[in-house]
Amino acid sequence: MAAAAAVSSSFFTCRFNALSVLLVVLGFVTILHFNKCEAQLSPTFYDSTCPNVSAIVREQLVLAQSSDPRIFASLIRLFFHDCFTDGCEASLLLDNTTEIKSEKFARPNNNSARGFEVIDAVKTAVESSCPGVVSCADILAIAAEASVYLSEGPSWTVLLGRKDGRTTNFTAANNLPSPFDNVTVLRQKFTDVGLNDTDLVALSGAHTFGRAQCFTFIRRLYNFSDGNPDPSLNTTYLAELQQRCPQGGNGSVLNNLDLDTPDVFDNKYYTNLQNLNGLLTTDQDLLSAADTNASTAPDVNRFAADQNVFFESFIQGMIKMGNIAVLTGSNGEVRGNCRVVNGASGSQLAIQLRNSEASSAEEI
Ligand code: HEM
Repeated sequence: MAAAAAVSSSFFTCRFNALSVLLVVLGFVTILHFNKCEAQLSPTFYDSTCPNVSAIVREQLVLAQSSDPRIFASLIRLFFHDCFTDGCEASLLLDNTTEIKSEKFARPNNNSARGFEVIDAVKTAVESSCPGVVSCADILAIAAEASVYLSEGPSWTVLLGRKDGRTTNFTAANNLPSPFDNVTVLRQKFTDVGLNDTDLVALSGAHTFGRAQCFTFIRRLYNFSDGNPDPSLNTTYLAELQQRCPQGGNGSVLNNLDLDTPDVFDNKYYTNLQNLNGLLTTDQDLLSAADTNASTAPDVNRFAADQNVFFESFIQGMIKMGNIAVLTGSNGEVRGNCRVVNGASGSQLAIQLRNSEASSAEEI
């Protein structure tokens, strides 16, 4: 009897434990599911709180482009560098403080990433219509799409609802894809953030506009292998680039990434590669690196053959990239000033300064 009671009590305990475990697991699954739902971005996120946000961003971008023809390219690059560094949470926009080590000074960004003032202007315009609602991370996403569209590229529905982070990751920023990486490393860096080979080739197509400094490709021009220039560089293009980037010259001189249509978002980047007219080693390697191009060359040729196929893959890649490690719901915040986390002493000062600028502008 005692044994039976012990058995039944242990059975009960066991059943109770099993039940608890089941409940805990169910609860966990529910939480996970809830988080998953919460983590989803939405095209209608600002429909009731800031319905004109996309129009406001576009208006500011058009204004900026009138004095800076390169700005669209620079802005999409900001989105790429932000998303690849701990996710699309606007960490790249944060300035140095005692607590924050700004990613702006990491190797790939320093004296290279640009457009921060334009993002400030967009944020100010958005804040004046919808105060405290739209995150800097979403502004980067909307600006990236608008930049492509305003450069004659495709338009797409941007998923929204990202929150801004409160931290930076200088080490990760230093490890962004580099023009000195080989295809194997590039593929790995894309895989690490959930992007595949087609995404790598399609997103590299953003080099259909914008500029690159001589130092990022000069090795190809003089001493690539055995003291010779890169054999996968068209000789006419080589001569032109040697003129623009002489040995021992100024490494920061700018060059069009797309020699054919430098400010238009089209598929000429890929036809350039077919003609050995890619600017960076990492561009040309997608087609020409004989030992490693098997996973990338077919997509280069597909995109060169049909611009619509490129646009479709590019949009898919941008949406995937825009989903990398996003903060949503109660995670993160909507910064008042894209350069500082909320509550930092600088954020208040910046908001006050902006407000006083706005009121003096109104007075004028
Ligand atoms: C695949 C790996 C990539 C590498 C190694 C790479 C590297 C570079 C380099 C070295 C520059 C020139 C920077 C300078 O000279 O200051 C540049 C510019 C640029 N990159 Fe990339 N990039 C990559 C992928 C991407 C992606 C995925 C995008 C966007 C989706 C992008 C968009 C741009 C744009 C638009 C510019 C011109 C920016 C301007 O004119 O301000 N790149 N990239």
